[in-house]
Amino acid sequence: MKGLILSGGKGTRMRPITHTAAKQLLPVANKPILFYAVEALIAAGISDLGIIISPETGPDVRAVVGDGTRWGIKITYIVQDEPKGLAHAVKTARPFLQDDPFVMYLGDNLIKDGVGPLVTRFNQGKADAFILLREVANPSSFGVAQLDASGRILCLEEKPAKPKSNLALVGVYLFNKNIHKAIDEIQPSRRGELEITDAIQRLIDTKFHVDSHILTSWWLDTGKKDDMLEANRVVLDEMTEVAMEGQIDEATRISGRVHIGKGSILKNCIVRGPAVIGKDCQLEDSYVGPFTSIGDGARVSHAEIEHSILRENTQIRDYHGRIVDSLIGVNVELTRSQTKPVAYRLMLGDDSKVEVV
Ligand code: G1P
Repeated sequence: MKGLILSGGKGTRMRPITHTAAKQLLPVANKPILFYAVEALIAAGISDLGIIISPETGPDVRAVVGDGTRWGIKITYIVQDEPKGLAHAVKTARPFLQDDPFVMYLGDNLIKDGVGPLVTRFNQGKADAFILLREVANPSSFGVAQLDASGRILCLEEKPAKPKSNLALVGVYLFNKNIHKAIDEIQPSRRGELEITDAIQRLIDTKFHVDSHILTSWWLDTGKKDDMLEANRVVLDEMTEVAMEGQIDEATRISGRVHIGKGSILKNCIVRGPAVIGKDCQLEDSYVGPFTSIGDGARVSHAEIEHSILRENTQIRDYHGRIVDSLIGVNVELTRSQTKPVAYRLMLGDDSKVEVV
């Protein structure tokens, strides 16, 4: 069994953050989203991974993820020249996949349960494809499945205007070699892409066996800012241990599950978990509230931060205000020169400079 992780795409819904970074490298609880996919596949016993990258963000993905030696596995990078769809990505990966069965994992998806049990079920069963479904409130934003009373899939549609159910296709799929023929037989969709949803429908139409499982645990598709904050909230909420590798002074109060990385120094701060503070951060006279991650090397003084993601080396100095529901990129400098208490909702790209006066 091989693994194929998709980490191409332009991340247009996450601009300006994704002008300078691949969306799959954005951190959830201070770890790139993509790492959750890699680690889920490794936990399922897969050690031969292909990662689809785009020419634009591929070099960054390679640099951050590496060749797999850190996990003791092999990673092969496959460049998809243009974002022509998920099925096109599989076509591009054919020389890597050969005729082996594989798990395809969309690199911006996070699911609570691992893929191990699904791989076992797929290997033991007779299905040619295995899909995961989950009830959602906004099915027209996803691929949608219609099932009959016995749970058999009747049809699949990609982002239908009038969805036939509220069961969305989760971005984790298992296939055997028959998917390649189905991909060869489909046409680009209205949005001009070769849709994996259409290829699976083609398998159904040509009498191949497609099985499904309905997830009841959480699934997050981290396409937008609020999805990222929700992913951060859910992952931090599941964090069980406390880790204190930095230094705190006597005035600092820490409560709940909090990670503070090596080399970080906190003076006169209140930190209420669940929260993570990376390595080499300096925080003074500040409050860090629940569901917040602060990246390595950040500097924060006189600020209150809650339910937010601050990326590496961000500086928030003498802010005297509250930052909530915010996603702040790498190297951002944020300052403020008055003390009237207000709250801001922010989405700031890397290297932004903001002065609130
Ligand atoms: C893709 C699939 C869609 C699926 C979704 C899951 O959509 O085409 O069927 O429901 O991933 O994240 P995209 O995120 O490319 O719009």
